[in-house]
Amino acid sequence: MRQHDSDDFDLFDARPAHRSTRFEDPRPARRGRFDEETRERPNRRARYDDEPEPARRGRLTEGERVRLAKLRDDAYTETQLPDGADRWSTWDDAEHGPLPRPDWVVTELAAVDTDLGVLKTGKEADVHLLRRGLPGTPGTLLAAKRYRSDEHKLFHRDAGYLEGRRMRRSREMRAIEHRSAFGRNLIAEQWTVAEFAALSRLWTLGAPVPYPVQRNGTELLLEFLGEDDGTAAPRLAQVRPEPDELTDLWFQATAALELLASEGLAHGDLSAYNLLVHRGRLVVIDLPQVVDVVANPAGVEFLARDVRNLAGWFHGRGLGEHVTKTDDLLAELFSAAGLG
Ligand SMILES: Nc1ncnc2c1ncn2[C@@H]1O[C@H](COP(=O)(O)OP(=O)(O)OP(=O)(O)O)[C@@H](O)[C@H]1O
Ligand SMILES: [Mg+2]
Repeated sequence: MRQHDSDDFDLFDARPAHRSTRFEDPRPARRGRFDEETRERPNRRARYDDEPEPARRGRLTEGERVRLAKLRDDAYTETQLPDGADRWSTWDDAEHGPLPRPDWVVTELAAVDTDLGVLKTGKEADVHLLRRGLPGTPGTLLAAKRYRSDEHKLFHRDAGYLEGRRMRRSREMRAIEHRSAFGRNLIAEQWTVAEFAALSRLWTLGAPVPYPVQRNGTELLLEFLGEDDGTAAPRLAQVRPEPDELTDLWFQATAALELLASEGLAHGDLSAYNLLVHRGRLVVIDLPQVVDVVANPAGVEFLARDVRNLAGWFHGRGLGEHVTKTDDLLAELFSAAGLG
């Protein structure tokens, strides 16, 4: 009878009862023939391993059963995170940092991320220490800066900074104005996007900033400035440099300011808390509010305030004003930015 003839099996056959009897049919005669064929043609098994779609229709052979079981196992293990890991690497879904990419950046999709704890909770963001690597390898340490949108109705930096940025009158704009949960999340994402763009631009120019590895939603992954044991580099505010080192740090800071100014930019929130000292090198962080000093009507004031804050800290540590010469510095920065 027709329904017992497996060669006639059709995927579009609308008779499921017939199919199930055929799948259960052990068909000893056919299996014997297949075994014989396998013996005669040793390459036969390789063909079954490679082929995505078995050529045979209608009945699962032993080889196909093994292959499907393996696919099922793979699919299962794919969703099982290795012990200790918190998530699969988010690299694939993220916006990536500028090229050429440093060789320590882990790009393998099979890598996992492990949260090693909070480095610092701030007013607008929390910074976590993260390890990313293939399971069983030491991986790379990263700083994960996550902008928060839940607890704070108003970011202290919103006023003045966001105002200068033109935005469409839209559902988004109204949500931001009303500080709804949706609007707060949009603000947080805007800051993340702004900081990632600023870091990417400055890193490409050779400025001393952490390499921005990726951005995904309200999370930034940055080069971790610190030691292999996870100790973060201290903020400038925490170090007590010897006079020589103090002078050296001052000139590193002014070189960074000059580089920014030559791009028409000011940090906008520069202080001894937003500069890290990593093995004698000064690194500028926390750049979401970077200011275009030409386009922003308050650009000149932002630049002057940055210099005042910075010089104030160095003076407090004993660096003479004959070294800092802040009036001259400011004139140079204005000129570099095309303002003077
Ligand atoms: N790439 C990094 N490597 C090591 N530590 C970092 C890095 N980025 C940030 N940190 C640590 O996290 C702290 C907060 O980072 P950041 O200043 O960017 O965020 P913030 O939200 O402005 O925090 P705050 O409100 O304290 O200024 C830094 O002072 C520093 O100690
Ligand atoms: Mg900060």
